[in-house]
Amino acid sequence: DKGNHRHFMEKEISEQPEAISHVLDRYIDFASGTVRTGNSAIDFGDVAGLAISACGTAFLAGSIGRYWFEQYAGLPVEIDVASEFRYRQIPMSRKQAAFFISQSGETADTLASLNYCRQRGLKIGAIVNVTDSTIARAADTVFPILAGPEIGVASTKAFTCQLTVLACLAIAAGKARGTIDAFQERALVGHLAEIPRIMSAVLNDIQAQTFALARQLTGCKSVLYIGRGTSYPLAMEGALKLKEISYIHAEGYAAGELKHGPIALIDEHMPVIVIAPHDQFFDKTVSNMQEAAARGGRIILITDEAGAKASPIIPAAQIVLPNVDEIIAPMIFALPVQMLAYHTAVIMGMDVDQPRNLAKSVTVE
Ligand code: M6R
Repeated sequence: DKGNHRHFMEKEISEQPEAISHVLDRYIDFASGTVRTGNSAIDFGDVAGLAISACGTAFLAGSIGRYWFEQYAGLPVEIDVASEFRYRQIPMSRKQAAFFISQSGETADTLASLNYCRQRGLKIGAIVNVTDSTIARAADTVFPILAGPEIGVASTKAFTCQLTVLACLAIAAGKARGTIDAFQERALVGHLAEIPRIMSAVLNDIQAQTFALARQLTGCKSVLYIGRGTSYPLAMEGALKLKEISYIHAEGYAAGELKHGPIALIDEHMPVIVIAPHDQFFDKTVSNMQEAAARGGRIILITDEAGAKASPIIPAAQIVLPNVDEIIAPMIFALPVQMLAYHTAVIMGMDVDQPRNLAKSVTVE
């Protein structure tokens, strides 16, 4: 039931604050300011590294998670899309743990990657929405993302719930490995606790603005998204979302890779969506933005208040979000990215919940 929403996608975007609250209730003990991962078969204190595999949006959530496991827990992460992971013959040791991320829990390639790791004796964690799915049943430990049913083919609330679970796991891993102390854990948990409130405010604030910007995207042949750090996989998620529901070609690129090829594409017909919270990468991303602007690219900057102040140029358009801690920036910045794609597709008259050629769950290779 879509309630009073036009599409499931719109409904599911709007459900994110509530869905994240459920994740937080499950994975955080607010009284002590600690993360709880339940009775997990995976002992982060005792693993040498992680292998992560998934497809599509779930893969991009995992790609953001990689930055967190490295930064907060000092854990090396091997990650690939499941259709490659399963065939790469990646050398593995029993000292690694493996995580498989899947909304449906039925994706064929992800399941095959899981079986590859299982045969090599790794402990298996499944980060899934559907907890009685095949992938969940095949795992040693299930980490539910508690998003509730996701009907729209374009994944939205599952993505931000996957991110929140991954952030909790990275904090738990850091704690178990002694790379973060109780004080840091409490601070990080405090930031996560802010997500639902900030999301609700942002969803309200950017409605009209993302609609207006989407009108500018409708006539475009191609759109480039760039970012650094966790904003790089988010750029890829933005491009994936736009192409799957609006059928506009889009690419997500590491901002630093622009000058190694894609900058050749840029002219006045090419919007460049720059995802740049005011983090350690901001100055570098902004200098890539200036390079794109100098070639006539139509810049749409998605930043925060501090970033808007610090930006040396006034971009053609910008979306300014509140300043947030870096660990929650991907969840908050996901909202304008999702809404831009949604409005663009709706204005173009596309069937956003059932885009052509796509299925919600990909159970064949
Ligand atoms: O059910 P899963 O999470 O395993 O599905 C993975 C992908 O098929 C899925 O995320 C797909 O990329 C979405 N349509 C993206 O919006």
